[in-house]
Amino acid sequence: MNYIRQMTKDDIPQVYEIERKSFPHPFGEVLIGSLYFGAPELCFILEQNGKMIGFLLGGYTPIPRQAHILSFAILESFRGEGLGKELLIHLLNQLENLEFNSVKLEVNVDNQRAIELYESLQFTIESKIRKYYQDNSDAFTMLRRVD
Ligand SMILES: CC(C)(COP(=O)(O)OP(=O)(O)OC[C@H]1O[C@@H](n2cnc3c(N)ncnc32)[C@H](O)[C@@H]1OP(=O)(O)O)[C@@H](O)C(=O)NCCC(=O)NCCS
Repeated sequence: MNYIRQMTKDDIPQVYEIERKSFPHPFGEVLIGSLYFGAPELCFILEQNGKMIGFLLGGYTPIPRQAHILSFAILESFRGEGLGKELLIHLLNQLENLEFNSVKLEVNVDNQRAIELYESLQFTIESKIRKYYQDNSDAFTMLRRVD
């Protein structure tokens, strides 16, 4: 059974483990901790049968009231089952409750799977940032209104 809950500080090491397995240049544990303390109400854990299998770390700017998806991953063997989408929908509901106006993110231009997922939830590509990532690959910024 799947369950989405708020992240707590005790989750930081396990979030780092999923981050490390999911990205070629993962955020470190200390950075994950400071992102979490920046906006704990926008950080979520997805569990299956009590085991953490995904997370989403969010942040925000107060003016304009815009949220930012800072990191988001599902463990590889659980991908393609709609769980990532569930976690994003959970965030979007939370953003609506907290009266955010919009949400943005950066995604590697080669990450077709994630781009399709975001587009299926009405995110649109806003711009391209050259050499955004450590390996010099480019990112798209994507934006969605929250109503
Ligand atoms: C991106 C990620 C979180 C998506 O999680 P997921 O649980 O696999 O995604 P879902 O199963 O919810 O997929 C939802 C949508 O993604 C797209 N998608 C899923 N699997 C796909 C595949 N194999 N190929 C292309 N698109 C795919 C589809 O649009 C799908 O919508 P549909 O089910 O209505 O057709 C996951 O792939 C991941 O952790 N990747 C590594 C880390 C990463 O890239 N994070 C995003 C950084 S911006």
